[in-house]
Amino acid sequence: MSQRPGTLTGSAPAPSRRRRWPRIVGWSALALVLAGVVLYAFGGMWVRTSEMRAAYQAMVERHEQPALPARFVVPVPGCVCHSNDPVLQAQHARRRLRECSSCH
Ligand code: HEC
Repeated sequence: MSQRPGTLTGSAPAPSRRRRWPRIVGWSALALVLAGVVLYAFGGMWVRTSEMRAAYQAMVERHEQPALPARFVVPVPGCVCHSNDPVLQAQHARRRLRECSSCH
């Protein structure tokens, strides 16, 4: 593995407490990047209100709209659809951020 400078000169290695921070920062950065990739691939918007969800469900029951297939979408905190159209909301809540640019 990596050579510690202290082992070459024979002096005592630095206390491990001082070496912990770069490692914590490194792992945090990696976790952040991974979270970003996962959210880009699977993250999506929420339906803003439960009334809108219910409105879409009512349309499905009246056979005015198709039931949407369940998909694995991670709700991104704060990423809420602002449309006033429950159909648009319901459809967009099934979409992942990776897919936005294919239509918009
Ligand atoms: C399958 C195609 C498709 C995908 C994928 C898609 N959209 Fe849309 N989006 C639409 C359509 C169609 C409309 C309605 C356009 C209109 O009414 O003028 C719309 C409308 C919107 C609006 C405007 C809503 C309003 O009230 O005017 C926003 C904002 C939006 N989309 C964001 C997104 C985001 C963010 C994503 C990714 C999660 C996304 N869209 C993915 C097709 C898509």
